[in-house]
Amino acid sequence: AAAGTAVDERPLARRIAADGRPQLLSVSQFERSSLEDLFHVADVMQPIARRQKVTRILEGAVLGSLFFEASTRTRVSFGAAFCRLGGSVCDTTGFTFSSMAKGESIYDTSRVMSGYVDALVVRHPEQGSVAEFARATNLPVINAGDGPGEHPSQAILDLYTIQREFSRMGKLIDGMHVAMVGDLKYGRTVHSLIRLLALYRGLKFTLIAPPSLEMPAYLLDLVSRNGHVIEQTHSLEQGLRGADVVYATRIQKERFEGEAIEGYTPEFQVCKALVDAVCKPDTILMHPLPRDGRPGANDLSVDLNHDPRLAIFRQTDNGIPVRMALFAVLMGVDQQVARSMRDV
Ligand code: CP
Repeated sequence: AAAGTAVDERPLARRIAADGRPQLLSVSQFERSSLEDLFHVADVMQPIARRQKVTRILEGAVLGSLFFEASTRTRVSFGAAFCRLGGSVCDTTGFTFSSMAKGESIYDTSRVMSGYVDALVVRHPEQGSVAEFARATNLPVINAGDGPGEHPSQAILDLYTIQREFSRMGKLIDGMHVAMVGDLKYGRTVHSLIRLLALYRGLKFTLIAPPSLEMPAYLLDLVSRNGHVIEQTHSLEQGLRGADVVYATRIQKERFEGEAIEGYTPEFQVCKALVDAVCKPDTILMHPLPRDGRPGANDLSVDLNHDPRLAIFRQTDNGIPVRMALFAVLMGVDQQVARSMRDV
């Protein structure tokens, strides 16, 4: 803690609680200190995530994994994280195979699931819907993406990745320059990440989006109020210059009608030639994935796959220890795991 600042001794689950409940709905539940404490728990989980060590701390516990929107990495990595802690998973994917297809409400679904499982991870296409699930239960609930709203666990693992990459290079997050590229209007991962980054000091943000897909004004206000510098540009070449981190995102076509996007031309693609021309040798290239590889998508180019600056698969790997840490904290076993790992 800074000089004169009291250290918060409460368990991490209490410090990040949502309305007093062990639930993760928004990154706004975090302060910098609680975020850094969560990263320490994720560090403890690293050898378990890689099966170098084993824990059965959640043996007998069942995770309810409810995904009403497409997902690969969030759904599977939450499930794998729970299994690595010794628990097991029951899931339903899509509306078609849940009784929501018969008109069942979020409230009833959540109440019913509360009798079956010990924690819930929910993805749903409507903003605010996961909070509605959470209000109907006292179980730990994690927001795995609520439409264009938030994706807190993704932002946490993104920042954890930045911290690990920077630590390897002897760099600090305070004072860094981050360039965010792509669909900054509907991309929930950038909405959550920019809020977490705003907890740090003296950052420069360069926001690069087609004119119709710019970052919402309320987030620009929040970042400015925290004393950071923001520049907005439609030029990728100009925006990437000097960045320590480039965070590219997919255009979220599923969130708006298929209208043409002004300024979304082939020059908008983050590709090897551009990165070599304007980025630094130690710039980190990130993306929450999936990247859109279809013709005309202009997403992060596959020609960067062998560039060591590309951190996207280190990012996905970090999803396991970070999500294990979230379960351990919200289910109140984080201290126990840390103690048992010290004893191994
Ligand atoms: N990053 C992310 O949320 O990926 P999925 O949609 O595959 O879960």
